[in-house]
Amino acid sequence: MDLTDRPRRLRSDGIRPLVSETTVSASDLIAPVFVDATTDERVPIESMPGHERVPVAEAVARVEEVLATGVEAVIVFGIPESKDAEGSRAWAEDGVVQRATRAITADTDAYVITDVCLCEYTDHGHCGLLEHGAREDPHMTVDNDRTLDRLRRTAVSQAEAGADMIAPSSMTDGMVGAIRTGLDEAGFEPTPVMSYAAKYESAFYGPFRDAADGAPAFGDRRHYQMDPANAREATREVALDVQQGADVLMVKPALPYLDVVRQVSDGFDRPVAAYNVSGEYAMLHAAAENGWLDLEAVAHESLLSIKRAGADLILTYFAEDIAHRL
Ligand code: PBG
Repeated sequence: MDLTDRPRRLRSDGIRPLVSETTVSASDLIAPVFVDATTDERVPIESMPGHERVPVAEAVARVEEVLATGVEAVIVFGIPESKDAEGSRAWAEDGVVQRATRAITADTDAYVITDVCLCEYTDHGHCGLLEHGAREDPHMTVDNDRTLDRLRRTAVSQAEAGADMIAPSSMTDGMVGAIRTGLDEAGFEPTPVMSYAAKYESAFYGPFRDAADGAPAFGDRRHYQMDPANAREATREVALDVQQGADVLMVKPALPYLDVVRQVSDGFDRPVAAYNVSGEYAMLHAAAENGWLDLEAVAHESLLSIKRAGADLILTYFAEDIAHRL
C-alpha cells in the first residue's frame, strides 16, 4: 500500500481555507422579491417561510432589507391587480412590476432584474397566449409566435421603468431574439438579457405558483418547458438563446439539474446562472422545521454545490440568510 499521497494533509484547519476551490459570496446572489398589487399589507408566503408578497408601496423597503444583508441584486415578480386572457397587465406602463421598478431604481442602488412571462398575468395561468379555442381542448397549447410580441412589449415596458436586466422565463421559442430586437429599437442596447435558457417542466416550482399566483388553471407546461429527462436538448436550447443574443444563460431548477449547469458552463462562453427554486427552498425548510436538517448548513452547502457545478450567479430564496451569515 502506497500512502505517500495523503489528501488529508491539506484538511487541517489552517490550510483548508487556502486550498478551498469554491466560495459563495453575497455578490453571487440574486434575491427574488414579490410585489403584489392586490394588497396593502405584507402577506407571508406560507410555503416559503421568511418570504412575503409586499404591496408596491413597500417595494423599496423590501429591497432595502435585501441590500442590508449585502446582496445587491433582486429579481422582481409581480402579482397584478387583474388578469385577462392576454395577460395585458404584464406590459402596462402602470403595471405592478413597472411601478415597483420605478420606485426601487429611484430610491435604491439595487441591481434590478425583471422576470418576463405572462403566467402571473393571464387568467388561464399559462405563459403565453392560447391557441384559438385551446381552453376547451385537452391538448391545448400556447400560440408561440403571437406570444413573442407580448413578451417584447413587456420587456420594453420594464426597461422603460428602469430595469437593469431583463429575464425572460416563458420558454417561448424565439423569445430572446424578439426581446433583444425590441430593446434595441427602443434604445436599450446596453440592457442585458438573462435568459431562462434551459428551464425544465419541474414539480419543484410548486411553492412559487402559490407565491405568484401563476398556477395553470388547466393543463400543464409540458408543451413549452423542457422534459426533465433531457440533457442534450439543453445544449440546443441554450445555443439558440446565444444566437439570439442572450448575455447570461440560466438553468432552472438548480440542484436536480447540476449536470446541466456543468454542461452549459463547459460548453458556452457566457456567464451561467442557476435558479435554486421555490421547491428546493421549501423542502430544506420543512426538514429543518422537523429538526432533521441544520438549515443554514444545508443552504450553504446547496449554494456551494451550485457554484461548484459551474454557476456564476445564483437566484435563491436563501440569498439574504446566507449573505447575512457570510
Ligand atoms: C415564470 C416563472 C416561474 C418561476 C420563475 N419564473 C414559474 C413557472 O415556470 O411555473 C419559478 C420559480 C420558483 O419556483 O422559485 N414566470
